[in-house]
Amino acid sequence: MSSIYKLGVIGSPIDHSLSPKIHKIFANDLGLQISYEAIEVKENEFKTAITNLFDQGFMGLNATLPLKEAAYGLADNLSKEAQNCGSVNTLWKEKDTLCADSTDGRGLVKDLESKGIDIGDKNILLLGAGGSAKAVIPSLLKSKPKTLTIANRTPEKAINLANKFTSGQCEVNAAAIDARLNSEPSLIINTTSAGTLKQAIELPENLFSDKVFVYDLSYSFQMTPFNKIAKEAGVKNYCDGLGMLIEQAALSFEIWTSHIPSTDIKREDLL
Ligand code: ATR
Repeated sequence: MSSIYKLGVIGSPIDHSLSPKIHKIFANDLGLQISYEAIEVKENEFKTAITNLFDQGFMGLNATLPLKEAAYGLADNLSKEAQNCGSVNTLWKEKDTLCADSTDGRGLVKDLESKGIDIGDKNILLLGAGGSAKAVIPSLLKSKPKTLTIANRTPEKAINLANKFTSGQCEVNAAAIDARLNSEPSLIINTTSAGTLKQAIELPENLFSDKVFVYDLSYSFQMTPFNKIAKEAGVKNYCDGLGMLIEQAALSFEIWTSHIPSTDIKREDLL
């Protein structure tokens, strides 16, 4: 008898989540039966909601904004990656133990690799020092870039992150977002929420060159505001975060079902 995997994503707001579509495409390709619901859960009701959903037979949950850090705090058993990130996006139960992992960073790295980007020879500039930045830094560092520089509107947060993630293998620095950079980055990753919040973003004046690859973690049907700025500044190679969204979902799907889905999904099937 084949079982139905009962899965879902929790967060707020949740109605525009693409996760149900992505997971259903994975399941169809693999011939698996799943249900995958998007469930509105606010931060103050998070603990009860998780307990109730697993009691109702959910086998796996994704946690998205603003619950990733609360989910981290609730989990009994955290993967190594989740411990480094301080947030999680994937939850499941093993007997009575609530287990959690963070697949965002690995999803980003997989997507960069699938686009032919060799992180190992990159000087990375990461814009932003919030939850999204923290979630991807450990995976980026694991791929051993030449340098990683974090620039943030609030400089202290960039300095704190740089100190937290300083490792023997890779130079991790903080830079001011409104000053000239000391060196030219070869990969720029935008993790700020400026675009989503429809706010202007202040940037270093010498940020872009025509050789740089720009990766915006946010995604949209039309070009993201950040990629528009990059293109207007002469950048030729840029992409948004839809590929990362699919890759992180695939890693969650594999954790829950032990099946590896194809991540070859067309943009127009999602957006
Ligand atoms: P997320 O979980 O999406 O990362 P977050 O933790 O609130 O959200 O972090 C948002 C990040 O975007 C922060 O680094 C924030 O900068 P501050 O630390 O100075 O708040 C950055 N950010 C948000 N709006 C921005 C803007 N208009 N310009 C530049 N950076 C912005």
